[in-house]
Amino acid sequence: MTAELIDGKAIANQIKQELKIEVEKLKSSGIVPGLATLLVGEDPASQIYVRNKHKACQEIGIASFNHLMPKESSQKEVLEKMNQLNLDPKVHAILVQLPLPAQINPHDILYAIKPSKDADGFHPVNLGRLFAAKDLTELRSNQQVIPLPCTPYGVLELLDRSKISIQGKNAVVVGRSMIVGKPMAALLLARHATVTVTHSQTKNLIECCRSAELLVAAIGKAKFIQGNMVKEGAAVIDVGINRNANGSLSGDVDFEAAKEKAGWITPVPGGVGPMTIVMLLKNTVELCKAAGGT
Ligand SMILES: NC(=O)c1ccc[n+]([C@@H]2O[C@H](COP(=O)([O-])OP(=O)(O)OC[C@H]3O[C@@H](n4cnc5c(N)ncnc54)[C@H](OP(=O)(O)O)[C@@H]3O)[C@@H](O)[C@H]2O)c1
Repeated sequence: MTAELIDGKAIANQIKQELKIEVEKLKSSGIVPGLATLLVGEDPASQIYVRNKHKACQEIGIASFNHLMPKESSQKEVLEKMNQLNLDPKVHAILVQLPLPAQINPHDILYAIKPSKDADGFHPVNLGRLFAAKDLTELRSNQQVIPLPCTPYGVLELLDRSKISIQGKNAVVVGRSMIVGKPMAALLLARHATVTVTHSQTKNLIECCRSAELLVAAIGKAKFIQGNMVKEGAAVIDVGINRNANGSLSGDVDFEAAKEKAGWITPVPGGVGPMTIVMLLKNTVELCKAAGGT
């Protein structure tokens, strides 16, 4: 079998167009959705990520505010900045670019973001609500919006827009990070999959992956998921982004081998990657609307 390719770039563009229309509507009623980013220090990769986020905001008409602080900033100074952004009515969503310098505890900073302005969905109140929800629709009712962590939220959109069913499926998530693996498992559970989360201490990983009708790889090791770990006809979602010695990118899945067994597969680049920024835009628009911008 040769898998159907899930085109993340095309799906991300489609969502961008939808968001652009929503932003225009908000603007016509005098409301401009605003995203503030906070970068502490000068990490070159973080500078690129932040720049790309602002560019994406511009493309669809979201106002973006770029806050930079020196790398020697104290935790108290960063918390003060966070407080200012929490109180700023032009800011509907706040993103703290990770990693933060060593003297700052990232958890304390993420906890200081007002949950209703949490662009990345990493605040424990929002993560707690996600884990507590029996069903995802619960998180989208009564004008209440719980922002979802962008990468797993993007994976969900890829599945939905590719018409891949989730309910009742045997799903295996490889990786248990706070950014990808854990919220991915919670989202799939809230969409009624039967979820197994695996990690570096998991025994029988090969058999476990091979049982997955839906396999999400978020490991950070190039081509870790081999063809013998893929069930015939499975949907294989590759979150990994690994830089090879020659500068090219590889996912966590051995694409060439896996595509011969899978029913659907995401490429790297062009799969999950383009979705992450777009879901940040979506969270910003949804938080703006929940704050009264409907
Ligand atoms: N597409 C995007 O927008 C996007 C966004 C975020 C991340 N990523 C990419 O996704 C990948 C994962 O990111 P992350 O932040 O989740 O990484 P991470 O925090 O390093 O977590 C990696 C996870 O993989 C598990 N793992 C490592 N070796 C393993 C092994 N041999 N067998 C089974 N599990 C193993 C680890 O297990 P332990 O917990 O036991 O250590 C850990 O839970 C990276 O390539 C990253 O660049 C992409």
